[in-house]
Amino acid sequence: MADVTPLEIQQAIRNVPDFPQPGIQFKDITPLLGDARLFAGSIDLLTEGFTPGQVDTVVGIDARGFIFAAAAAYRLRAGFVPVRKKGKLPYLTHEQTYQLEYGTNTIAIHVDAIRPGARVLLMDDLLATGGTAAAAAELVRKLGGQILQIAFLIELSHLQGRARLAGYPIRSIVVY
Ligand code: PRP
Ligand code: MG
Repeated sequence: MADVTPLEIQQAIRNVPDFPQPGIQFKDITPLLGDARLFAGSIDLLTEGFTPGQVDTVVGIDARGFIFAAAAAYRLRAGFVPVRKKGKLPYLTHEQTYQLEYGTNTIAIHVDAIRPGARVLLMDDLLATGGTAAAAAELVRKLGGQILQIAFLIELSHLQGRARLAGYPIRSIVVY
């Protein structure tokens, strides 16, 4: 059980105007990460409903998703698997390309990272348009992983990222 509330977590997320570009308000999670109680509580909330033995693999998305997914994997006694930006993984990979507002991005996973039938939690810090998470979910699916849930610390609901993730159970802790 988490001993922190989503409101406390929200209050520890700093809004930084005009970063990285004018007009963008950046959600800075570093004050949350630096607070021992709130960081632990955020992992508790992201993994709520799951106990050790129920999950084989937690997949985290490069880069900020690693922070939460690795801690969640430790808590659930599950393995951790990184989905990385193209060109970072050393072994054979599957790649998935998705649309950004301008241009495309490509992410990758090692071909042997997930055992077919493995019970997987997919995790990232933020759900915006959903393009990144949808591409990561496709990579997990390609390897035969069974996604139990996709969890985000933050959801920007006006961007309707959930629509891109139809069919997957979604959890988000703080919704804007
Ligand atoms: C950010 C965020 C999510 C993604 C969400 O990652 O951490 O991974 O964008 O956007 P989407 O839902 O529109 O796909 P980004 O690659 O900007 O930075 P990071 O490497 O710091 O995680
Ligand atoms: Mg990211």
